[in-house]
Amino acid sequence: MEIGLIAVFLCEGLLILFGLYLIWSWFTKTPFYPSKTKPLNDLIKDLNISADTNFVDIGSGDGRIVVWAAKKGFNAEGIEFNPFLSLISRALITLNRVGKNAQIFNKDFNNHNFSKYNVAYLYIFPEHMDKLENKLFNEMPAGGIVITNTFKFTNRQPSSTYNRYYIYKV
Ligand SMILES: C[S@@+](CC[C@H](N)C(=O)[O-])C[C@H]1O[C@@H](n2cnc3c(N)ncnc32)[C@H](O)[C@@H]1O
Repeated sequence: MEIGLIAVFLCEGLLILFGLYLIWSWFTKTPFYPSKTKPLNDLIKDLNISADTNFVDIGSGDGRIVVWAAKKGFNAEGIEFNPFLSLISRALITLNRVGKNAQIFNKDFNNHNFSKYNVAYLYIFPEHMDKLENKLFNEMPAGGIVITNTFKFTNRQPSSTYNRYYIYKV
């Protein structure tokens, strides 16, 4: 078979896979939509978070927040169950040369232990936040900070609000 034809088939296959992922992610309410890192810079400064922090992005998408946190000097980890996004994240980590303090776990965040993290970041739909709430707040150490983007926990009040971010103290 001609090489051009193989390339066309491959591209079509990838497009179909991507389309299926989009449909599935909307039905399961787990779409990938990236955060902006710029407003997070001011937020982190205001919260006085020290550089030796263990940071986790829960549902880390393409890893941009993990890379951003690693560049801040945090020990940054991300949990993402989509294998393609995990692959992209690892490539971004390598390209940005932050592999020493950045790591991606390709798994469901409901099966992850959060006891080592001082700061957790979430940008996921409220139903997923609520499902995780008890586990997250029970496992994180006292004094820990949970930052949510856009969405709030249904049964918990944030201790402060910065534009579209909600801050919860453990
Ligand atoms: C709105 S995106 C946010 C991505 C990234 N945190 C950011 O702010 O740029 C939500 C991500 O959570 C992931 N996700 C949703 N449910 C998950 C689960 N149960 N376990 C792991 N990842 C999950 C989705 O695949 C998606 O990439």
